[in-house]
Amino acid sequence: MTNQILEITKFLISFIHIIAASTWFAGSLISLNINHLVKINEGFSLISKQFIDWTNIIISSLVITGVILILNNLAQINDNSMFYICVLLIKLFLFIWIMLIIYLSRFKTIYLNKPTIYHKIFKLVLQSKLIFPMTIIIFLLSELLNILRI
Ligand code: HEM
Repeated sequence: MTNQILEITKFLISFIHIIAASTWFAGSLISLNINHLVKINEGFSLISKQFIDWTNIIISSLVITGVILILNNLAQINDNSMFYICVLLIKLFLFIWIMLIIYLSRFKTIYLNKPTIYHKIFKLVLQSKLIFPMTIIIFLLSELLNILRI
């Protein structure tokens, strides 16, 4: 009975993580070309606003369920453990990078507008167009994690 409850809980946590990840994917896809989409149809501006309102909830869900999945899965992996941890770290690194892009752009930091080479590089690696390709890589890495664990 206890085992069944644990299995159902694991299933629900995974399910919430995948739903949050899919919503994130849709939002990042729309944000890729939002100005163009709004020109075609004003409704996209409302959809985009809705996604922005949901950002904090989606991020919190991903982090909370992600941490629970890590704790659960680290106990399961054996042969590929080093490789699993490396892939997981790359995934987390990309996720933190995306968070930096989102939160720095929210606060529209004046620091990035200075004309030195370092500021230009920062501006380049923190542009919001990178969110979608990085999300795709995160999906790929997540699939790899799944394979490595089995
Ligand atoms: C943009 C953010 C994220 C996306 C798009 C994403 C996507 C996914 C997807 C699609 C899966 C399911 C793979 C499968 O079972 O087929 C997954 C699993 C997982 N995610 Fe995430 N995730 C994100 C953020 C996070 C974060 C922040 C953490 C940790 C704090 C995390 C930890 C995990 C773990 C541990 C698994 C299970 C991997 C395994 O099967 O061993 N994810 N993720």
